Amino acid sequence: MIHADTNAKRFTLHTDHTSYAMAVDGQGRLLHLGYGPRADCFRLPDAPHNDPGCHPDLLPQEWPAPGMGDNHMPFFQPEFADGVIAADLRFAGAAVEPGKYGLPGLPAFRDCPGAETLRITLQDTMGLRVTLLYGVLPDCDLITRAAVIENTGTAPLTLRGVPSAVLDFARHDLDLITFDGAWAGERTLHRAAVRPGVQSVGSVGGIPTHAHNPFVVLCSPDAGENAGQCWGAALVYSGNYRIQAESAAAGIRLSMGIEPFRFAWTLAPGESFAAPEAAFVYSGQGFGAMSRRFHQAIRSHLIPPRWADMAAPRPVLLNSWEACYFNFDEDRLLELARAARQAHADLFVLDDGWFRGRNADNSSLGDWAADPVKLPGGVAGLCRKINDLGLAFGIWVEPEAVSPNSDLYRAHPDWALQIPGRPTLEIRNQYVLDFSRKEVRQGIWQQLCALLDSCPVRYLKWDMNRSLANVYSAALPAARQGEVYHRYVLGVYEMQQQLTRRYPDLLLENCAGGGARFDCGMLYYSPQIWTSDNTDALDRQSIQYGTSFCYPPCVMGAHYSTVPNHTTGRTASVEARMAAALSGTFGFELDLTAYTPQQIRQLHPFVQFYRDHGALLRGGELYRLLPPDGHGAAWAVAAPDGSEAVVFAAGRVLDGRCLTLPFAAAGRHYTARALYTGGGSEAAFAGEELQLLGLPLPQVRGDLPGYLCWLKAD
Ligand code: DGJ
Repeated sequence: MIHADTNAKRFTLHTDHTSYAMAVDGQGRLLHLGYGPRADCFRLPDAPHNDPGCHPDLLPQEWPAPGMGDNHMPFFQPEFADGVIAADLRFAGAAVEPGKYGLPGLPAFRDCPGAETLRITLQDTMGLRVTLLYGVLPDCDLITRAAVIENTGTAPLTLRGVPSAVLDFARHDLDLITFDGAWAGERTLHRAAVRPGVQSVGSVGGIPTHAHNPFVVLCSPDAGENAGQCWGAALVYSGNYRIQAESAAAGIRLSMGIEPFRFAWTLAPGESFAAPEAAFVYSGQGFGAMSRRFHQAIRSHLIPPRWADMAAPRPVLLNSWEACYFNFDEDRLLELARAARQAHADLFVLDDGWFRGRNADNSSLGDWAADPVKLPGGVAGLCRKINDLGLAFGIWVEPEAVSPNSDLYRAHPDWALQIPGRPTLEIRNQYVLDFSRKEVRQGIWQQLCALLDSCPVRYLKWDMNRSLANVYSAALPAARQGEVYHRYVLGVYEMQQQLTRRYPDLLLENCAGGGARFDCGMLYYSPQIWTSDNTDALDRQSIQYGTSFCYPPCVMGAHYSTVPNHTTGRTASVEARMAAALSGTFGFELDLTAYTPQQIRQLHPFVQFYRDHGALLRGGELYRLLPPDGHGAAWAVAAPDGSEAVVFAAGRVLDGRCLTLPFAAAGRHYTARALYTGGGSEAAFAGEELQLLGLPLPQVRGDLPGYLCWLKAD
């Protein structure tokens, strides 16, 4: 519910459990009053805000602008035609609307029953208007923000930095949690107290990259999984970004938006620019509750509605990558598909290596037609044979990439991002296509449509194996090169939107050399993203743990792979590998043709487990029970009413200890059915027992042992 008192100029956004309050001061500045537990009354800050002598630097401002005495590092940088970079923005009006706003051309959380929008307009007398958009999704405790900047003057205006949101905290004692890493080690949690000055994460690589994720948490120093205050902040964007915490005189300021480096967007009179959305959840009960609210919002109101909630089961797939890499022909693929069928998979995914001349990573990207040697019957011929085996068919593409050794590049060398007169950088032997250009997108779009129309393709993996470099567009004049990075992202969004419109039943999975573009922006178009190229069951614990702070299990691509693991060389038990894979979008990625019929039969109960409990695993609430410590972890997915749950554990935590289950319902009796290769076990517990004493974990030794258990209340 949004409460707007237009006389007193006070505005409060209420979700079921949280409130966010603002007020306009005597000088027309929009001040932030607080964001925390649900409350009806927020005081104006103690600072003498109506005193003209009060230093603006001390004011918590909803949209701080440069040149007006606010000495924080400025994010918003409007440059007027006369060279002035300053704005004096004063309150000019507000309106509450039913429903959640949308942002044309940009991903954003979707409208839903009970959602509302608050628009607050701030005006500068020199011809600049800022409309702040606030969205409220009450049942998920989600508050979103975005902003539209309009040139209301008579001369061009250049935006050199535009935040999506700025949030002031009138305290200095907060920790900042970020999710960082590298290829095969994405989104590892790092926590540290916010120090005086600026700390930031972000990207200048055109995609978020493996290094940091566009999601952070600020929290009280005592915050933990089940207690303490925390504020999660996600940017719904997939390009260059910056999220920064600045600790200065009056407290901590969190700012987030498109990275200002190499951003410059010129608005002619009357034109406007929409900043991507930022989304926030506050929890007074620690990280677990915060994550569960984000998860609910993402799976119900962000991913494509076709795949939202528990509605549509996701297929159990087998992906050919770790089984074949580039080395296959049709016979080999059919052999693998037959083994996939024997393992009870639903869908066969042909990964990289299927198109004209692609036998290694050094050619052919951009030529999206079947290699005649590997696939004499074309993709359609293979698809028919896969379908005849009783499997649906899916395929891999990398639409934004082009190999120097490709027909596409030979025909259109100017389509690649490149700086005139300078050598163009190859990364993984490939260039990046200039997706900011319509004709480039159209060229790829036609090829994609030809592929997808040629046969019933049920799943598409959209990969992106490098970051952007040599960023310069042949289609824009020198003065507008600062638009290229953002226009590139808009181009990717446009094509993914077209895909979801034209092929509504297509299951799209995004990927970027593993998880280098794992963000809320991509999730608007694809209900799942490949989490990491590292499928090792132990490493996946920390990768999926970090990922789960914002993103729900049902969006994390996770596959059961072979041992020794191809990335780490480590050996893990079937149960541990199954626990990792079943905690995401379950599938296989290994050479099942090397398995005996008996070994394949051992996998059946786990596939059946996924089919039986898929709705719970996709739509249930995640509890991180024991955080990964490099040796093991435990977690669970539970129905909101505690009536059933799946408990997972792997590693040295399987030492006979008892695992307390906070979601177990008192007064109910549970049957616990553990699943092992070649068997299972059953035991009964009272809800109180599970809550207070815990579920006894078995004592298992050996190569990374694992444990899966389904709990059902009477
Ligand atoms: C990177 C992806 O993350 C892998 O799963 C695989 O698709 C390769 N690219 C193919 O080149």
